[in-house]
Amino acid sequence: MKKLSIVTACAAILLGGATNIWAQDQVAQVRSLAATCFTCHGNEGRSVGGVPPALAGRDKGELLQALRDFKEGKRPATIMHQHAKGYTDQQLEAIAGYFSAVKAGPATPAPAARGGN
Ligand code: HEC
Repeated sequence: MKKLSIVTACAAILLGGATNIWAQDQVAQVRSLAATCFTCHGNEGRSVGGVPPALAGRDKGELLQALRDFKEGKRPATIMHQHAKGYTDQQLEAIAGYFSAVKAGPATPAPAARGGN
């Protein structure tokens, strides 16, 4: 009985660990998708002077709707049609979720605007 509970405990620890690594991996993957937006929308979606609009801390549904509308060409845009078309609906949902989870905060200039590095 004692042996069995040790085995069970070990299995639970191993499984728990694996799930945790998987979850961390998912977060990293979503962040690397969202990072493609940082160039224009600012680091973590906090844009400078609201141009283009900040994404950080916005409502997920609102962001997702905008992205879907860009993808389908329903909403006028200069560049966002191309960006939105590059992602699957699941990826757009994950990206919208990412930005809605980020706290709105002081703007961080996009890498290009920081003058090199
Ligand atoms: C090359 C610069 C650039 C990149 C990269 C970019 N955007 Fe945009 N985004 C814009 C511009 C400019 C607008 C205004 C609409 C337009 O002209 O296309 C905009 C508008 C938006 C809007 C509408 C915001 C509002 O409140 O009206 C959302 C949402 C958005 N972008 C999300 C994203 C996401 C998510 C990504 C990454 C997958 C991304 N953008 C990547 C430039 C960019």
